[in-house]
Amino acid sequence: MKSSQDIRKTFLDFFKSKQHLIVKSAPIVLKDDPTLLFVNAGMNQFKDSFLGLKNPKHKRVTDTQKCLRVSGKHNDLEEVGHDTYHHTMFEMLGNWSFGDYYKAEAIEWAWELLTHIYKIDAERIYVTVFAGDEADRVPADEEAVREWSRWIAPERILKFGKKDNFWEMGETGPSGPCSEIHVDLRSERERAQQAGATLVNTGHPEVVEIWNLVFIQYNRKASGALEELPEKHIDTGMGFERLCMALQGVNSTYDTDLFARSKAFITAEFGIVYDQAAEAQLIAIRVVIDHIRALVFTIADGQIPSNTGAGYVIRRILRRAARYAFSYLGAHQPFLYKLAGLVAEDYTGVFDEVTAQLDFIQRIIEEEEKGFLRKLDSGS
Ligand code: GLY
Repeated sequence: MKSSQDIRKTFLDFFKSKQHLIVKSAPIVLKDDPTLLFVNAGMNQFKDSFLGLKNPKHKRVTDTQKCLRVSGKHNDLEEVGHDTYHHTMFEMLGNWSFGDYYKAEAIEWAWELLTHIYKIDAERIYVTVFAGDEADRVPADEEAVREWSRWIAPERILKFGKKDNFWEMGETGPSGPCSEIHVDLRSERERAQQAGATLVNTGHPEVVEIWNLVFIQYNRKASGALEELPEKHIDTGMGFERLCMALQGVNSTYDTDLFARSKAFITAEFGIVYDQAAEAQLIAIRVVIDHIRALVFTIADGQIPSNTGAGYVIRRILRRAARYAFSYLGAHQPFLYKLAGLVAEDYTGVFDEVTAQLDFIQRIIEEEEKGFLRKLDSGS
């Protein structure tokens, strides 16, 4: 099995070989963008380069970005735990072109990386392209169809509308048509019974989007109008946890090596046999092992729980984890803080800021847990 460490490194090395500079993830907490509380996509730190407000020193960059989707336009919080592939905090692998290469290279390299380097079976891949939108006066993306046709059979290229194939960072800001790559992880038997094409974008847990190639060419103004940008850019985002799921042969992101140690800790702590656990327990385990990462990374980047704004979002995440654990795992004592140490170890060498502040992170989480458990115990 390929380890998540190898999978991440392979992505960055691949784009380095295509003359991209490997850069660091931006902090997950945003302090200077009034349109967002937390980084919700790899492109956030490059917003000004897309808008032409900044002239980037390097035209091609790549990274893995810490993202959190718990508020605003991209909010997955209530799904997390109930399905097997959504997360609050996740890593987004990305490659960017600032006015340099465009659709042909972005599509060719995505194909090369997925099918030749990672060796995902081409027969399990579907791609979607933008079908056009009259109200926005944006035509269907025939250029993307032509570029994909060089690599993939026409019946695997599917057209979808604005909801799925026009990417926007928020209510305003950089945007453009996008092309998503979906993988079908079902068994041979299931695939023979029903074509994967019919399951794309239907919420099927084993036919999932893994990578979004965004062709940035507009700025969405506060008026709602789309303004054409002076240059065209590439912004891609691959869900790292989902990529690991596809490459490690499991059908849940929570069963990848990324969560193995947290899961082992929880099952041991609460005496649960994972393979025999009730659905409610499995949901609670997923909630906890997802949310602890969100807490650890946001606190490491300077956001502590509080009663307002971004701090309140973090408090809600912590309480959601504590509540599920209290109700379905029998957790009546603080324990989340102990998991923080495992997360720090899991990301050593990738996000060292967690290890550097581990004591502080654990203290904050434990205090919050104690306060909340008192409330739960007293039934308030
Ligand atoms: N910016 C690409 C994505 O978040 O999907």
